[in-house]
Amino acid sequence: MTAVPLDSFRRELERLLADAEAALAGVADPASLEAARVEFLGARSGRLKDTQKSLGGLAAADKPEGGRRFNEAKNAITACFEAAQVRVVGGAATAAVAAIDVTLPGAPLRLGHLHPLTHTIRRVQEIMGRLGFESVDGPEVEDQWHNFEALAISAEHPARDPLDNFYLAVARGADPLLLRSQTSTVQIRVMENREPPLRIVSLGRVYRPDTADATHYPMFHQVEGLLVEPGTTMAHLKSVLRLFASSFLGGDVRVRFRPSFFPFTEPSVEVDMEWGGRWVEMGGAGMVDPAVLQAVGYDPDAVSGFAFGLGVERIAARRYGVDDIRDFYRNDVRFLRQF
Ligand code: FA5
Repeated sequence: MTAVPLDSFRRELERLLADAEAALAGVADPASLEAARVEFLGARSGRLKDTQKSLGGLAAADKPEGGRRFNEAKNAITACFEAAQVRVVGGAATAAVAAIDVTLPGAPLRLGHLHPLTHTIRRVQEIMGRLGFESVDGPEVEDQWHNFEALAISAEHPARDPLDNFYLAVARGADPLLLRSQTSTVQIRVMENREPPLRIVSLGRVYRPDTADATHYPMFHQVEGLLVEPGTTMAHLKSVLRLFASSFLGGDVRVRFRPSFFPFTEPSVEVDMEWGGRWVEMGGAGMVDPAVLQAVGYDPDAVSGFAFGLGVERIAARRYGVDDIRDFYRNDVRFLRQF
């Protein structure tokens, strides 16, 4: 194949440049500008691309010179195109920019954030962590042993009534299962699998068919604490709960303990906190009953322990000044945005 003479290549470039200059000088609107771009600079079949093919056909000795001239022509056509672009669309763009009033205030950007109950759970874990309590989890679907029997809640106890629990449908003859009604189940699961000393805290959902009102919801959260060490007394329990309450709610919170009864603690107390001039029950607590320690294989003569279970919605409401715990579940963004 005979090589393309350098002279004819040079003339081809000159013709191309002259045509491009003439065409681009004549464009007056964005559509003809785009048509000229495709004709001369189009990446696949533009005329510049075609001329590049002729460059490949030059004799080896002519290629450096041909390449230099090709680049000059390419730069000149590109510059011509850019000048036409400024002339045709630059004016419109400048007018559009001028129409923007940069002195107007910006629109506020709303970022999402954690739900107040999630904040509460994390804060409780953090405070209890500082007191040496490790966070643990347990299942929400439980068997009768962990929800009742190991906690000394006998078969006849009214707390096992089907009207007070969410039992699940199971195969005929299978052991009944239920949505756990308290996080005290986790105490048993941990003690069954670990040796004392123990300091654990467990936060999670529990379920009871209670009618919803300002302090009740059928699904709510509890925080369960358990400490088992030799020589543990009621004084340790009260100190930990007071420390927790003042860290979480502030130094001015008042806490009181009322004698109560839970089948799995002896003695047992109800824990109340003052809230807007009233006392509100936050949870139950007590010394782990020796029968429970025995049921999980611990020696009640060697170790003693305390446990407590508080309602998370109630302590969150107390902390944030919320009057009705149902607000936590209404998903009204006007409420949630406040936290
Ligand atoms: C218990 O559930 C015991 N497991 C607590 C406990 C743990 C005692 C360890 C001893 C040792 P009680 O049923 O009282 O206790 O519930 C504890 C707390 O959960 C209540 O004080 C209240 O704050 C919260 N609570 C109970 N029912 C509801 C409900 N329906 N909605 C919201 N919070 C509730």
